[in-house]
Amino acid sequence: MKNRTEEHRERLDAHVFVCTNDRDSEYASCGTAGAEETVTAVKSWLRERDAFWTAVSVSETSCLGLCSEDGTAMTIQPRNTWYSDVTPETVPELLESAFGPDAERTDEKR
Ligand code: FES
Repeated sequence: MKNRTEEHRERLDAHVFVCTNDRDSEYASCGTAGAEETVTAVKSWLRERDAFWTAVSVSETSCLGLCSEDGTAMTIQPRNTWYSDVTPETVPELLESAFGPDAERTDEKR
């Protein structure tokens, strides 16, 4: 086992987790509420600002416990901020408020 905390902390300021969970049931899930399009929008917004996988990582994740039929759940760590009902249309506003218009604000308090 290697403890790589310091190495990762030096590189990474935030990690965005986007729920893409899909469940075959009557209950709402992000997978059926446009999660694939939302995670694509998140990656594109960061990539356009050269922040994707440099200062900000993005991972798809399973259920975050914020299921909704109206959009996708997301969390930004280690900021401990949580969102639901995110759509591709609301991604720019959300990420701009979190990271600034040019994704320059990546060093908020952990
Ligand atoms: S299925 Fe996405 S938060 Fe539950």
